[in-house]
Amino acid sequence: MEPFQKKVPVLHNVNVAPGYFKMGVAFPELGRIALPGQFVMVRVPDGRIPLLRRPFSILRQIVKDDEICGFELLYRVVGKGTGALSKLKGGDTLDVLGPLGNGFSCQDGIRSAFLVAGGIGITPLYYLAHFLCHQKKVRPSVFVGGKSASDILCREELNDISAQIRITTEDGSLGEKGIITSLVKKTIHADGKPDIIYACGPTPMLCTISKIAADHNIGCQVSLETVMACGFGACLGCAVENARSRGRYLHVCTDGPVFDSRAVIIRS
Ligand SMILES: Cc1cc2nc3c(=O)[nH]c(=O)nc-3n(C[C@H](O)[C@H](O)[C@H](O)COP(=O)(O)OP(=O)(O)OC[C@H]3O[C@@H](n4cnc5c(N)ncnc54)[C@H](O)[C@@H]3O)c2cc1C
Ligand code: FES
Repeated sequence: MEPFQKKVPVLHNVNVAPGYFKMGVAFPELGRIALPGQFVMVRVPDGRIPLLRRPFSILRQIVKDDEICGFELLYRVVGKGTGALSKLKGGDTLDVLGPLGNGFSCQDGIRSAFLVAGGIGITPLYYLAHFLCHQKKVRPSVFVGGKSASDILCREELNDISAQIRITTEDGSLGEKGIITSLVKKTIHADGKPDIIYACGPTPMLCTISKIAADHNIGCQVSLETVMACGFGACLGCAVENARSRGRYLHVCTDGPVFDSRAVIIRS
């Protein structure tokens, strides 16, 4: 199906933690069909800032009176584009293209899943947790790591849809002190391995998670967040090395952003 492209109203744009915002967008057609792991390209329609579109994962569908009326984004302010987004208010207009990319695949018969997020990587995994819980009747174990307590998002929302939430912070301000991949490894050794691991976060984290999955023979899907200029295969700026065909490349926007961890070479 062709993605939609439309200028649509912002429903809300709320500062949920230092540097992090949740934005609701009124776009029922897109909200209805977007799958966990898919993304949208967003442009703030302000003629004074000649911005390229920026990619963002979908956090969740927004449902009102039993109807899907849009979707929500969760984003961290890191530069010019996200800075401009953070200034928008309910009623402002946003130019949105999507849904784009493939999304996570969830085979029938999965009984256990680990969802491993680094910081803002929780965004597509929250949507996936919701899908696994409600559509597949599997409550995943969710692992979230960040530098500090304020980087750990969606904790309360995850309570009802996950089997457990395990947290690490590098400064020890919340959960265990350390990095999330060490906690995943420890949990596998203590409690046994899950049927599948889904991960999204910084490249070094994805690299380690892919190795842990390979060492324990666990299926693993990683969602990659490369810099993207177009989002639909035109600029070739989002290439990643193809692990199954050396010297060839895959494109995160059209072949991904979700890949089997054995299909791509992730360099930390
Ligand atoms: C498929 C996909 C889904 C994404 N989903 C989310 C999401 O749900 N929430 C969210 O906050 N962000 C997400 N991102 C990252 C987001 O697109 C970037 O943070 C955003 O484009 C930065 O735009 P900017 O103009 O504010 O920053 P810029 O001014 O372009 O850059 C500021 C700094 O951020 C770095 N940066 C830019 N893009 C990225 C990137 N993709 N990954 C890591 N560092 C980057 C730059 O190198 C630079 O150091 C996603 C990226 C992809 C590819
Ligand atoms: S972002 Fe342009 S080809 Fe992928």
